[in-house]
Amino acid sequence: MYHKIKKVAYQEAGQGECLVLLHGFCEDSTMWADYLSVLSKKYRVIAIDLSGFGRSDLLDVPSIEAMSEAVFGLLIQLHIRKFVLVGHSMGGYVGLSFARNHASMLQGLGLFHSHPFVDSAEKIKNRRKTIRFIQRHGIAPFAGQFVRNLFAPSFVKDNETFMEELIYKTSMQHVDAVIAASVAMIERQDCSTVLAQLDCPTLFIVGCQDNAIHINNSLKQLSIPPVASVHIFEDAGHMAMFEKKTESLQIIDEFIDFCVAMEQSLNAVQSENQ
Ligand code: MLT
Repeated sequence: MYHKIKKVAYQEAGQGECLVLLHGFCEDSTMWADYLSVLSKKYRVIAIDLSGFGRSDLLDVPSIEAMSEAVFGLLIQLHIRKFVLVGHSMGGYVGLSFARNHASMLQGLGLFHSHPFVDSAEKIKNRRKTIRFIQRHGIAPFAGQFVRNLFAPSFVKDNETFMEELIYKTSMQHVDAVIAASVAMIERQDCSTVLAQLDCPTLFIVGCQDNAIHINNSLKQLSIPPVASVHIFEDAGHMAMFEKKTESLQIIDEFIDFCVAMEQSLNAVQSENQ
C-alpha cells in the first residue's frame, strides 16, 4: 500500500540550546513570530505547525499522540536530541503526550494555558457542537466569537486591529484540521501521571480570565510535578503570549536557563558518583 509522506512544516531561527514551540487549537506556528525573533538571539527556536494547521499536512489518524509522534519524527530528522518544549493549550496536550513517550529528550516542559486532565462531559458536548457548526457553516462564522473569547475583555477592547487579523488567520485554517483536532482533544488520555513522573522542570503559565481552560484544572495541576515554575496572570485570558508578551518572553527565557542549569548540575552530580 502507498502511504504519502506527511509534511510537518516548521519555522526555525537561532543557535544554541533548543526551544520547541507548539501552538494551540485553530492556530499555527506564526503565532510565535515574536518569540522566534526575540528568543532566537539566545537559543535555537523551532516553531512547528501541528497536523493540518498552517502549512503541515493533516495526519491520517490525527490523534494527540500521532501529533506528538510527528513532532518527534521532525526533531529526529533535525538531529535534535535535547530541548525545552513549550506548548500552548492543545500544544501542551501534545507536549504531555511527547513526554509520555520520549521524556528523556526533554530538558523542560512548559504548559502555557494547558493541563494534563481529560475533557469534562460539558467540554465534550461543546466540542461536538462546534464540530457540527463547522461542518455546516465552515470556520469563518465561528472564528470571530471564538478568537475574541480567548482574550480578557479589556485586551479585546484595546486591540481591535490585532483581533481582526487573528480572526482572519483563524478563518483561513482548514475545516478538516479543526474538526480532527477537536476529535483528538475529546479522545486524549489523562497525563497526570506523566506530569508526576517528569524528571525535568515544568513551567505553568495560567490566566485567571481564561475561558478555554477551567481555572480548577489550571490550579489543581500545579502541585503534581516534582519541580515547577508557576506564573499566574490575574488579568490575562487564554493568550498571555500576546496579552502579556514582555512578561511571557522573560518567563520562557528564564525557564530555559533554569532547565539547562538544572541539567548541568544533575550531570555533574552523576559523573561525581561514577
Ligand atoms: C486550545 O487553545 O488549544 C484549546 O482551547 C484547548 C482546549 O479547547 O482544550
